Amino acid sequence: MLVSSEESYILWREDLGKPQMGGRGENSSPWSALRRVAPLMILASFIVCLVLYYVSPMGAAAVYEAYRKRLRIRGTQRRLPQALIIGVRKCGTRALLEMLNLHPHIQKNGMEMHFFDEDDRYANGLEWYRKKMPYSFDNQVTIEKTPSYFISREAPARIRAMNATIKLLLIVREPATRVVSDYTQIMETKLRKGKQVAPFHKRILTVDGEINDGFKAIQISQYAVHVLRWLREFPREQIHIINGDNLIRDPYAEINKVQQFLRLPPYITPDNFYFNETKGFYCMRNETFQKCLADAKGRPHPYVDPAVMSQLRKFFVPFNEQFYEMVGHDFGWPTS
Ligand code: A3P
Repeated sequence: MLVSSEESYILWREDLGKPQMGGRGENSSPWSALRRVAPLMILASFIVCLVLYYVSPMGAAAVYEAYRKRLRIRGTQRRLPQALIIGVRKCGTRALLEMLNLHPHIQKNGMEMHFFDEDDRYANGLEWYRKKMPYSFDNQVTIEKTPSYFISREAPARIRAMNATIKLLLIVREPATRVVSDYTQIMETKLRKGKQVAPFHKRILTVDGEINDGFKAIQISQYAVHVLRWLREFPREQIHIINGDNLIRDPYAEINKVQQFLRLPPYITPDNFYFNETKGFYCMRNETFQKCLADAKGRPHPYVDPAVMSQLRKFFVPFNEQFYEMVGHDFGWPTS
């Protein structure tokens, strides 16, 4: 039977809500279709999450972090950092960032951006860099860490061009221990790639038994050489120096000084830290979570012949003395 379009509309309206055998009742409405696929969609998302979690916990964390970064809470915006952790590599830069992040007025950027030390990144411009920062409220300090800024020739002037009053955080550690930590990391990466690794003394000594100052790890520990470039661009008061060895022993003492330097209300307390026997380091906690740093932080160091260690410490003495003078603080690092 042929029906006019008006009649078919009326028929359709009359059919609404009436389940009919093979007809166009409730069973074929968009809602019923959604109801049929919804459990499948939930199951599929659950399986994706499970796979992500078990196959790659880091991947799942990255997805979550990316998702969280995209969430924009009312009243927040992406801002250029008002504070930077500029180094030094293997001195506790990650611990410092994560510990500061316990403060509600701190908004950390988790990734090392390498914006000021890598030309191709710097060429993207400040707006590109700003858009990489997390959303923050007016009263929050955005903080980024890239330890290689410390040894970069260009970074100090570029950072000053962005913000001449930015607050800089520099964490240092006894230079010879820092070399061992750096060597341990390099060695582990090589081993993971199936490459050969030279023992510590072979890496840091020349064939004549002198300290090999061509080895990058040795150059990084010559703090005086690098800090000079920063003091040419920034007044000393704008650089807060954290004692990395002390951060390991007594994190609250060091973090409290940073809280003051950044002019933050005193929020972080000694209760935010507890010593974890298994990890052998302090971990963090607040009302909602407990967290230790990843296994790559706080690795066991290889055995180093005390004579080699002593030679390395002696090598750093003139650099250390210059550094103490430049920054106006004697760290009392061992001289042999
Ligand atoms: P080791 O792994 O040699 O012990 P960075 O984050 O700059 O790479 O520094 C890594 C160093 O941070 C570690 O070097 C470790 O000694 C130090 N560190 C300081 N506080 C720590 C903490 N609470 N947990 C783990 N490592 C910490």
